[in-house]
This record gives sequence, structure tokens and C-alpha cells, in this order.
Amino acid sequence: MTIDQISRVGIVGAGQMGAGIAEVCARAHADVLVYEASRDLVSAGRARIFRSLDRGVSSGKLTEREREQASCRLRFTSDLDDFADRQLAVEAIVEDEDAKIEIFRALDGVVADPDAVLASNTSSIPIMKLGMATANAGRVIGMHFFNPVPVLPLVELVTTLVTSDAVSRRAESFAYDVLGKQVVRSADRSGFVVNALLVPYLLSAIRMVESGFATADDVDKAMVLGCAHPMGPLKLTDLVGLDTVKAIADKMYEEFKEPLYSPPPLLLRMVEAGRLGKKSGRGFYRYDAPAR
Ligand code: 3HC
Repeated sequence: MTIDQISRVGIVGAGQMGAGIAEVCARAHADVLVYEASRDLVSAGRARIFRSLDRGVSSGKLTEREREQASCRLRFTSDLDDFADRQLAVEAIVEDEDAKIEIFRALDGVVADPDAVLASNTSSIPIMKLGMATANAGRVIGMHFFNPVPVLPLVELVTTLVTSDAVSRRAESFAYDVLGKQVVRSADRSGFVVNALLVPYLLSAIRMVESGFATADDVDKAMVLGCAHPMGPLKLTDLVGLDTVKAIADKMYEEFKEPLYSPPPLLLRMVEAGRLGKKSGRGFYRYDAPAR
């Protein structure tokens, strides 16, 4: 039996990542329902997505008509029960295991299609833990996007010991054929491929600044000019969010007990001080406007 290509998508969370995923799905002609926990968060999420669509028009990537069409494909809700008819749900809330488990438990009860894909955009939480919150862990998979989602072409696909082949094929086909993303597969290990390599690099850069080895500016300049990276590690930490980098590092350390994954005190202090990077207006650098 063939299973329909996914056209009805639900995104849980409209922060930086959820908004980006919702936008690329709507631009790829999917019918997109975005969930946020309250009306205020729905308004903020809607504004975030529409600002990015506007930016697409002003940078010449989208026509006015394409923006209007994408806007019409986006609906918002603060009631997860509205996800009953979704063929794909992508959870993209904060990197908090208990909160994600709650969402998966709820999605499992709501999403009716037994072949629906229940995906997490987690960076570091093993997908099996989320699958075990459901009665049908065969539907659960990791689909990990990269920030900014409209720009970066990768999706890491993470199957667990029990993800069904049909769900895995359906998710891969959606990422590749519908969204036009490139897909790499990773084992279900905290950090998957990209963060297992990226996070120790970001933490090493923070340790360099912490120890006075080099300034944040010079570390970033070195990696941009010396290695042709699009941005240096401290600016990238600001983009990802210091709280998110800390949460990922904590999970990776919990899994591997590798000292390089342990968040350095400077990162902890900055998170405690609310210096979360671009989204809070200050991290290793200062920002005028809130993050888009
Ligand atoms: N939405 C849509 N488009 C955007 C965008 C956004 N939020 N931000 C930038 N762009 C587009 C711009 O429109 C521009 O397009 P154009 O070249 O066609 O005009 C292009 O991207 C370049 O943007 P800018 O000129 O404004 O700025 P930069 O050249 O400095 O690029 C950047 C910004 C795209 C963020 C680039 O620096 C970059 O790719 N940095 C690395 C980002 C990265 O490594 N991300 C991965 C983080 S890890 C992760 O997400 C995983 C998680 O689990 C932690």
C-alpha cells in the first residue's frame, strides 16, 4: 500500500526554529497549522514568520504573490486538539526533555493517522526517549533543521530502534521532495552528527575567551578569515542562543560524560545573567533589535 505524500503539517512552537520550519513548509505549498501555548505566543510567532516572509520579498527571494500564497497556507492555534488531521507534526519547542515528552504524549493522543509522522526538531535529546512517551513509537522520528531554516539546506533524519520504515521514508521524502532539503541520517545519539561536532567547537571558543587566550572578536575573525566560515563561533553561539547551546551541551554531557561537552562557567554565568545572544539583545555581542 502506498502512503500519500504529506501535505498537512503541524508545527508545535513558533520560536526561532518553529517559525522557520513553518515558513519553509508554507513556501513549499503545504497546509501548515502552527501551535503555540497562548494567544500572546501565537501573535509573536505569527509576527516572526510574517517578518521573515517580508524579508524574503525585500531580498527578492519571494514575489508578493508567493508571500500572499504562503500566508494563506498558514493557520495558528493554541489548541493541540486541532492537530487531529495532520500527516506530519514537527515539535520545535525549547530544548527541555520533560516539556517535549509532554508534547509527544499529547500528539500521540491527538494525531489520528496511524502512518502520520511525529517528528522532533530536538538538537540533543535522544528520540527514543520521546518515542517512549507514545503508544506507537514507530511514528516517532527526529527531523533536525538548522538556523536560519529558510537558508540552510540540511535536515538530519534520526530514526530510533523502533521507528517504522514507512515513517522514515515518508519523513525523508517530505524533507527532500517537498521542502527541497538535503538529508543526512544519524544514529539516535545525543547531538546527532552536526552538534556532536559543532558544540565542542563552540564551547572551546567560549573557553578561549574565558581564559583570556583571545577576544571574542579575534576568535571570530580568525575562523571567518582563516577558515572561511560564514560567521565565527561566538557570533554563532549568539545566533543559536546561549541557553540553547547550554541545554544541548548538558544533554550531550549527560549521554557521553565527555569533558569537552561540559558547559564552561562563562556560558553558565551569561545564561544566568540573561545574556542569551541575539534574541535577548546581548550575548558575546550587542544587538539593537530583537532577533528576527
Ligand atoms: N531568514 C531568511 N533568510 C535569511 C535569514 C533568515 N533568518 N538570515 C539571512 N538570510 C539570508 C539573507 O536574505 C541573504 O540572502 P541573499 O544572499 O540571497 O541576499 C543570506 O541569507 C545572507 O544573509 P545576510 O547577508 O543578512 O548575512 P550573512 O551573509 O552574514 O549570512 C547567515 C547570515 C545566513 C546566518 C550566515 O552567516 C550563516 O549561514 N551562518 C552560519 C549559520 C549556522 O551555522 N547555522 C547552524 C547553527 S546550528 C543549528 O541551527 C542547530 C541547532 O540545533 C543548534
